Amino acid sequence: MVTNRTFTMLKPDSLEKGNTGAILEKINASGFKIVAMKQTQMSRRDAETFYAIHKDRPFFADLVTYMTRGPIVAAILEKENAVEDFRTLIGATNPEDAAEGTIRKMFAKSISENAVHGSDSDENAFIEGSFHFSGREIF
Ligand code: CMP
Repeated sequence: MVTNRTFTMLKPDSLEKGNTGAILEKINASGFKIVAMKQTQMSRRDAETFYAIHKDRPFFADLVTYMTRGPIVAAILEKENAVEDFRTLIGATNPEDAAEGTIRKMFAKSISENAVHGSDSDENAFIEGSFHFSGREIF
């Protein structure tokens, strides 16, 4: 398994607010190389599958509605220590708890609409990246 990669989604609220460019600039400036990227829209089935781990949580239905209400930008990012460094860059799940200068502090509205996703392990980075990209789309 490749361990210097992580997976991210710029969530619908980021695209609705026109924050795509600013967020990608911050990702690039932090030393991540984009090895795959696409703008796409998740179906309900996609979101239910991607977030299956949360299916028993009270916020699951709202999460699926949120993630399918408009386009997202999905990307695979490469950097040494990518998973951990990217989670530091995006900040805590709840933007109220996120450190100053993090992407969620700057761009997220709430714990549910929190602007970006970042994989929480090398294994999940691989699974989540493979959910959105075929081998031919990764460079
Ligand atoms: P993320 O960590 O990328 O993936 C799971 C998502 O579920 C999370 O971002 C939020 O968008 C959402 N989420 C997590 N915890 C809560 C919560 N307590 N209430 C509402 N939404 C949540």
